[in-house]
Amino acid sequence: MNKLQKKILDKIQAEGAISFREYMAMCLYDENYGYYQTRTRIGREGDFFTSAHLGSILGRVLGKRVIDLAPKEGPVHVVELGAGEGYLALDMLEYISKENLPLYQRIEYHFIEQNPSVFNGNQKRLNMHLARMIFYDNLSELNTLPFAFIFSNEFFDAFPVHLVTRRENKLTEVYVGYKAPNYTRVFREPSGEVWRELKELGVSVGEGCTIEINSDIEGVYSRLADKIEKFHMVTIDYGYTQDELYHPDRKEGTLMGYHKHAAYENIFQLEGEMDLTSHVNFDALIHYGEKFGADPKYFKNQRTYLMDFGLFDLFQDGKEPTTTEAFQLKTLLLPGSMGDVFKILVQEKE
Ligand SMILES: C[S@@+](CC[C@H](N)C(=O)[O-])C[C@H]1O[C@@H](n2cnc3c(N)ncnc32)[C@H](O)[C@@H]1O
Repeated sequence: MNKLQKKILDKIQAEGAISFREYMAMCLYDENYGYYQTRTRIGREGDFFTSAHLGSILGRVLGKRVIDLAPKEGPVHVVELGAGEGYLALDMLEYISKENLPLYQRIEYHFIEQNPSVFNGNQKRLNMHLARMIFYDNLSELNTLPFAFIFSNEFFDAFPVHLVTRRENKLTEVYVGYKAPNYTRVFREPSGEVWRELKELGVSVGEGCTIEINSDIEGVYSRLADKIEKFHMVTIDYGYTQDELYHPDRKEGTLMGYHKHAAYENIFQLEGEMDLTSHVNFDALIHYGEKFGADPKYFKNQRTYLMDFGLFDLFQDGKEPTTTEAFQLKTLLLPGSMGDVFKILVQEKE
């Protein structure tokens, strides 16, 4: 039994079953043993890749968006949520510095990552750009900004979620109990937080279905609106519209574990050593964006976004793509690839 497993069991034994959300929050973010607190998890030696780890194409296209849309004068604020090891930041800043040095010199890159050791370990990689960067471990620390670009890649999928299920026409929330030697699922009346979310989003849960509810989305948009007067926000993640995500055919929801590049449906294992993630409800992002003044402007898959916003301009210099670039292009563009599965939502607060 690892230390986190012991901590979870001690808590269940002391307090009784804990909500699945609390269990997942401990697995991912326990201050000592949580998955995202302990060590670098992404990339070849880790458990999964994100598009940012794949190579620089995504960062270059986003960098091009900044160049194309940046205000003509004054500081250009870029805020990255859940910036992880800084690959996206690096690729964007490299691109902007090469393509438009005067604009690069106006950039203030607000790098928000709740685990400071992640960026401490990566300062070397970002060395060239540290003068342009400000590091925060929490969105609340950001000073008020008049206008910013906001980017996130696989941020919303990394939040702990509530599990809600309908059995025999009764809606319940899943709690995690323990009966040696296994965890047990305990079904309880949903918390007020869950009821509020279901009502706010108009979610209905099909008989026999289990769905995930991320109750932190409203807080993110409320804080963003509070801190940033106007913004152009680009969210990259895997997920669906609400109707697709909570479709009665999707009986078991989308929660998955990733460990050493293998996917696990049984997520009650390897606590703190396995990434836990669920698909994003993009309608919830749109809903809460609108609630705080941000309008949805674009919602398509990542491949289409890349093609719509300058992917091919990156290869206009007459040079053949390198082997690494060709591999990235394949992974980003082929049907069924990351470019297909990932969606990009653009919201603007004007
Ligand atoms: C799946 S990883 C993605 C990392 C990076 N964006 C990438 O594409 O490689 C999610 C990241 O979000 C961070 N994170 C989660 N919740 C956060 C929060 N509330 N504030 C800041 N960072 C957060 C995690 O620590 C983790 O590094």
